[in-house]
Order: sequence, then C-alpha cells, then structure tokens
Amino acid sequence: MDEILEDVLEKIQPTEKEQEKLSEISEDLIERAREISSDIDAEAEPRLVGSAARQTWLSDKQEIDLFLLFPKHVSREEMEEKGLEIGKKISGEDYSEQYAEHPYINTQVDGFDVDIVPCYDIDDPSKLKSSVDRSPHHQDYVKGWLKPEHKKQVLLLKKFLKGIGAYGSELKVHGFSGYLCELLIIKYKSFKEVIKSASNWGSKKIIANTKDRSEEVLEEIFPDQPLIYIDPVDPGRNVAAAVSKKNYATFIRAAQNFIKKPKKTFFFPNEPPTSEKHLRSLIEERGTQFYTISLDIPFELVPDIIYPQLRKTEKSITKKLEKAGYNILRSDVWFENQKALILLELSVSELPSVKKHIGPPVDVDATPFIQTHIDSKEKKAGPYVNEDGRLVFELGRKQTKALDVLKDVIESSGGFGKHIEKTISEKGYEIFENEKIVGEMSELGSIDFLGEYLTNCLPWYG
Ligand code: CTP
Ligand code: MG
Repeated sequence: MDEILEDVLEKIQPTEKEQEKLSEISEDLIERAREISSDIDAEAEPRLVGSAARQTWLSDKQEIDLFLLFPKHVSREEMEEKGLEIGKKISGEDYSEQYAEHPYINTQVDGFDVDIVPCYDIDDPSKLKSSVDRSPHHQDYVKGWLKPEHKKQVLLLKKFLKGIGAYGSELKVHGFSGYLCELLIIKYKSFKEVIKSASNWGSKKIIANTKDRSEEVLEEIFPDQPLIYIDPVDPGRNVAAAVSKKNYATFIRAAQNFIKKPKKTFFFPNEPPTSEKHLRSLIEERGTQFYTISLDIPFELVPDIIYPQLRKTEKSITKKLEKAGYNILRSDVWFENQKALILLELSVSELPSVKKHIGPPVDVDATPFIQTHIDSKEKKAGPYVNEDGRLVFELGRKQTKALDVLKDVIESSGGFGKHIEKTISEKGYEIFENEKIVGEMSELGSIDFLGEYLTNCLPWYG
C-alpha cells in the first residue's frame, strides 16, 4: 500500500515551482487588494484562506480563495458593494460576478482560478453575519492543528474522494469538502487511518464530543445526514452536512475495498469511453429508450443554483412518466456553460392502448370507484375482482407513446425549478432520442458524461 501512496503523492503534489508561483500570485493579490481597499476607503483586510493558504491543494486544482474581511460595523450593502468593487479592480477586464448564497468575484490569474469573497471579521463564528464568515476561522483552526507532515495525507484523502466521485461540497456533487478532509486527517492523523476507520462506519457516523450532546440529540439536530462531524469552530454546524447517502456509502465501500486490495484506480479511475461510434453501439445494445431534453439557459447562474433546479425538474418528469406507466431505468442531469441537459432512460417507448386500473379491496366502499368508470368511454373491460380481491377496470390509455407524454409533461412544467421553467417558456427546449443523443451531447461537450452514464461502475471495479 505504501508504495502506491508514494506514487500517487508524486503525481498530485504541487511541485516546488508551482508552490512558488502560487505564493507569488497570492502575495501580489493581497498587496493589490490592500492598495485598492485604501484607495476606495473600504476598511477591508485581505486574507488568503482555503487549500492554497494551507498547502493542501491538489496540483490539478489550481485555485486561490482570497477573502476580504470587513469590520462588523460596516453595513451589509457596503460590505458587498465595496467587496465586489475591490474584486473587480483586482481582476481588471476579465472577471465574472457570481452569486449563490453570497456574492463574489471570480477571475483567472496565470492559470489560477481566483475567488475574491467579501465577508465579516467576526469573533464568534457561531454568530455569523454572512454565510462565509466561518472560513477565516477554519483557516486559523487548520493552521493551528494540521501538522506540516500531515498535509500530504490531506492530498491523498482529497484525491481518493475525487477518484470515487465523492469530493466537493458543491450541490453538483454533494460530497466531502476540503475542510472536512482536513478535519478527518487532524483526527485520524493519516490517510490510512481514515480509511481504516471509514471501512467500519455503519449506516451513520457521528464524530463529535458527545459529552455535551448525545448521539440521539445530534441526530435530531442534523436529520437525514449520514455523516455528522461537528465543526470545531461552530458547534451548531455539521461540516459534513452536504454529504449525501450515496457519497457516504460510496466512501465506505471504497475504503473497505482499498484495504482489501489497494490500487491506483481508486485515485485515477479509468477514462470513460468517448468514441461516438462506441457510444452509439452501447445505446443500441441496451435496447432501452433514451431521451435528452436540451436547454439553453439564458441566465448567468452558477452550478450551485442550477443543479438543484435541474434535479427537481428531473424528479418531477420521471415521477409523471412513472405515473403514466413508463418505467424509468435511470436518469441524470448535466450543466456547463449555460447549457443544461436532462437524460432519461426508459424501459420502453410505447405502451399498449389498454391499462389496468386497480380499485378498492373488499372492506372499502366501491361506489365512487364504480361510478367513475362504469359508463366511461375509456372502459375496455371490468369491473371484475382480481386474485387479491380488489376491483379492477381495464381502461383505454390516452397516450401510448412516451414521447407524447414527455412533451405534455414538459409543456405543463409543473414542479420544475424556477429558472428551468422560465428557460422553457422563453427559449423552448429540444428533445433527442436514442442514437441521436450522441451527436447532440458531443456538440454540447457532455460526451464524458454520457460515457460515464453508459458504463456506470464504481471505479475500483473498472
Ligand atoms: N467552506 C466551508 N464549507 C463548504 C465549502 C467551503 O466551510 N461547504 C469554507 C472552508 O473554510 C474552506 C473555504 O470555504 O476552506 C474555501 O472553500 P473551497 O475552495 O471550496 O475549499 P478548499 O478548502 O479551498 O479546498 P479545495 O479548493 O482544495 O477543494
Ligand atoms: Mg479552495
């Protein structure tokens, strides 16, 4: 195992040169932020936080988090306005203003992705004034507790989670954040020990000082969160709140399998197939019915806003198709550069013109059920009693083609995400079927996503 970990580290650790470059860029950014802040009378104190500040960044994720700390007496409007102004002035021409829960500026400097985030300088991180005020406190905590020799262990854990698709607390992933990885290494001291522990986690894991609050109390405070890691800087927050059941279980399975048979595929999974010909034949072999709904989103929105809305839309569509009798084998969503896609895979594309409609059992009054259907034009057979003792009618199916149902469902757009609904009404949508989705997805740049969908497999079995 140690040899594998050494090899992996060699590939993922930033080189000295890269580290120097990052230091130079960040020092320069801080200096410029100070100058601009004093030029516009902003009282903002720039501070580097996140993985760049703690040397826990992976060489393939060159990213700098620069925070601008404002004193508490500054109003929210002024903090946001001046913070964004400083961010824009640092960036020059090339920047974008982002807004998820909190506004910030994103820019590129010499290959580094830089986020410039205004926040408040607060003493007690359990009393936030804005959602990002904890970050400087996380910075202090990790700097104080993460030993320099353990930084490499954080890199291994991050890369392992990335390899199995469970890294990142953003709403696209619902996985483990960088800060959570750092806390796990602070607690367990090494990658190996984290993996050993995780391989024994049950359906829930609570990592907290339970002298203050029992496990039962914590479960009540953080319901439906399989992993609970109380933030050492704010006991009211679960650092692992974003971790979904799926990613939690994937991590445990991966840990169990890594201990049994360590290999590099955990960190560097095989690439998905991308040849269009190959993908077409995979689709054909499955013999199912594929649809993609393509959307051209006319609003500049970050993935954290779009992904939950896309998933809500996906759920609403699949539920309605299921209700109409169409079995959904699997579905997924994708978003990049203002283009969004909902991928649906149905067992069949057509159903017969008759469907069974099951009524009440013998101990329930049958009158309303009988009255509704007995004279219906749709009645093909029934009422009769089935083997379970329930009344049954066989009725005509209004739509026998999944595509017609799908179009109706999209056009009624009930229960969709707000911006998805707006996109459909303002810009329309396009539907592609079966092999035709390959060309469309290739054009959109989502061919990797399709390759992964079609060969879906835990990476260490790949
Ligand atoms: N943060 C947090 N909770 C999140 C996301 C971010 O508390 N769900 C805070 C943390 O203090 C984190 C900082 O915001 O250190 C920067 O976030 P991010 O860039 O997402 O994470 P990094 O720790 O920098 O990790 P990396 O960039 O290497 O993925
Ligand atoms: Mg970061």
